[in-house]
Amino acid sequence: MQAKRLSGRVAFVTGAGSGIGYSCAQRFADEGAVVVGLDVNECDEWEAIESQSPGSRFVVADVCDLPAQEALVAETVDAHGRLDIVVTAAGVAGGGPVHAIPIEEWDRVQNINLRGTFLSVRAALPPMMEQHSGSVITVASVEGLEGTEGGSTYNASKGGVVLLTKNIAMDYGRLGIRANSICPGFIETPLFHSVFSDKAFDKYRERIRDQHKLGRFGRSEELAGAAFFLASDDSSFVTGQCLVVDGGFTAGHRVGFTELMGLE
Ligand SMILES: NC(=O)c1ccc[n+]([C@@H]2O[C@H](COP(=O)([O-])OP(=O)(O)OC[C@H]3O[C@@H](n4cnc5c(N)ncnc54)[C@H](O)[C@@H]3O)[C@@H](O)[C@H]2O)c1
Repeated sequence: MQAKRLSGRVAFVTGAGSGIGYSCAQRFADEGAVVVGLDVNECDEWEAIESQSPGSRFVVADVCDLPAQEALVAETVDAHGRLDIVVTAAGVAGGGPVHAIPIEEWDRVQNINLRGTFLSVRAALPPMMEQHSGSVITVASVEGLEGTEGGSTYNASKGGVVLLTKNIAMDYGRLGIRANSICPGFIETPLFHSVFSDKAFDKYRERIRDQHKLGRFGRSEELAGAAFFLASDDSSFVTGQCLVVDGGFTAGHRVGFTELMGLE
């Protein structure tokens, strides 16, 4: 039987209670890693991962809480002697045009998406620096690469995550630490449904789906596949990059000539 590709590795995943973070935690456990994770909301599925992958542990905590994350990392290193992977998937949707967005809403999104990412990586780096290896994987967005109507604080936070990640790659590369961001297109997760469940959004949801050249939204497991690549040795020479996983959303503007050409 083929050895599991992440056997002996230890991963820390934020936002592990739902969607992309949960799928990353599950995939890493499937690949043999010990997974520690956190989320502000408890998740019923955590127990299954904890029994599948002994040593794995999930806690309720906030990515804005640095001491809680430092404590989780310290306990993990005490128990397992290392930390190899961090995935920062905790995040929230939000936005509104600049003249109208409440200041508190701007701050909420920046705090969780950008400052939270910074704090999680800050907690994870010390053991990686000591062992001279590690893979930092931040979850940004295609909305961190280009504008969206009404995106404002969300896009600014995700653009910040993309550049923060490049800087981490620059600062820690000589210590053997790689850092890359994943930029998902629109992925059917609870966060996605919280934005699009409103009937008023139906027509916009269809238009957005149509811009994914594969003609569908993504699945969180497809993002976990990308995170697995960045966590594994297959990406040993990849750092400072954004891995865009968007079903072709950013490939170009689609007006529908494919129909005229008999391609749909
Ligand atoms: N779903 C998409 O279409 C999409 C597209 C691009 C980027 N993303 C990004 O992917 C990441 C994961 O999103 P998802 O779609 O899986 O959403 P999700 O809502 O399913 O999962 C996000 C998780 O983060 C947790 N979380 C929120 N605030 C937190 C905090 N302060 N501390 C700890 N945990 C917190 C939530 O409880 C939730 O479990 C987010 O950063 C999101 O911005 C999602």
